[in-house]
Amino acid sequence: MLFEQHARYILRLFRSATLCQPEVSVMSRVFNFCAGPAAMPEPVLLRAQEEFLSWGKRGSSVLEMSHRSDEFVQIARHAEQGLRDLMHIPENYKILLLQGGASAQFAFIPMNILGGKRTADYISTGIWSEKAIEEARNYCDVNVTATGAADGFTRIPDREQWKLNPNAAYVHYTPNETVNGVEFHWIPETGDVPLVADMSSTILSRPIDVSKFGLIYAGAQKNIGPSGIAVVIVREDLIGRPLPQTPRPFDYAVQVKDASLYNTPPTFGWYLIDLVFDWLRQQGGPEAMGPINARKAAKLYQVIDASDFYSNAVAAECRSWMNIPFRLADPRLDPVFLKQAAENNMVNLNGFRSVGGMRASIYNAVPEAAVDALCAFMRDFEKRHG
Ligand SMILES: Cc1ncc(COP(=O)(O)O)c(C=O)c1O
Repeated sequence: MLFEQHARYILRLFRSATLCQPEVSVMSRVFNFCAGPAAMPEPVLLRAQEEFLSWGKRGSSVLEMSHRSDEFVQIARHAEQGLRDLMHIPENYKILLLQGGASAQFAFIPMNILGGKRTADYISTGIWSEKAIEEARNYCDVNVTATGAADGFTRIPDREQWKLNPNAAYVHYTPNETVNGVEFHWIPETGDVPLVADMSSTILSRPIDVSKFGLIYAGAQKNIGPSGIAVVIVREDLIGRPLPQTPRPFDYAVQVKDASLYNTPPTFGWYLIDLVFDWLRQQGGPEAMGPINARKAAKLYQVIDASDFYSNAVAAECRSWMNIPFRLADPRLDPVFLKQAAENNMVNLNGFRSVGGMRASIYNAVPEAAVDALCAFMRDFEKRHG
């Protein structure tokens, strides 16, 4: 009996020891083209792994820290300053890290910044702007100022045809449509009406002038870090007039006052975000990423456009740098393409669930080598199946 107990104890020890071993070595990691949660920078994952059991000399994990502790507040403040530096965010803008991802912001925005007005203008360029519109309708009169629906969301409606309302509380648009692969390579001019941008899939991919916006928001799970968190960058004068029933954790003024710590935040996610910002700073920030991202996208579009075997329907002037959807001329080859890509260590190339086809998401953390490998695979696949 004693022997049996002893044997079980040894077996338990052995199991916990094997759990501690990383099952996948860095060398065997795949090229991940997922739209989100997306590839993370490898140095960030390694650093998190290194610090997982003990952050600094603390002897406990970030997961085990109180969000009110000096150590966590230090991480949180460092992350905020990291973003302010990377995006050159002016002093009159507040930065919030909030729960609920970008979809929650679809509601938080009208709740917080209607400022007593009843109407907001929305530009519709695809699936995500449509979702933002649907949600906003619960809080205000939505004026869909322009829509790309008639063109199957393959181009941005001509600016001259937008019918902006000068009395709208704000103008909302989606600079990069993650599903359709349509991207604004310019910033709409909206006069005195604050411009609101869902930058979920394009933030930090290149420099932008924050002062042109009233509010920028982004789900973190693409160019920022793990899912479940939204970054909100909001001009001070837009804060402080929420709709009367706005729950306190959703009220920007409350969260600004408490430095996004009104309630317990996803602390480990914040820590990872801080590491991503440090990594991005080491790469040279958005200024350095812009040309790299442009080059990565150009390489992929070149392969797609080289023949009729692949196609992308988006107008050339608004093709996304971050999310590149494409189709095979013969959709029966889709599963073969995905299977062979995976066999060559390239994963998550399937298109959005309701759209089908393929999509390569090539955010900051997807190295140029991954795009080169994908281009080579696509050329080879075409040779074998074209
Ligand atoms: C442009 C855009 N907006 C909003 C969302 C929704 O984000 P979340 O899932 O964080 O709510 C996504 C998700 O992929 C997105 O790509």
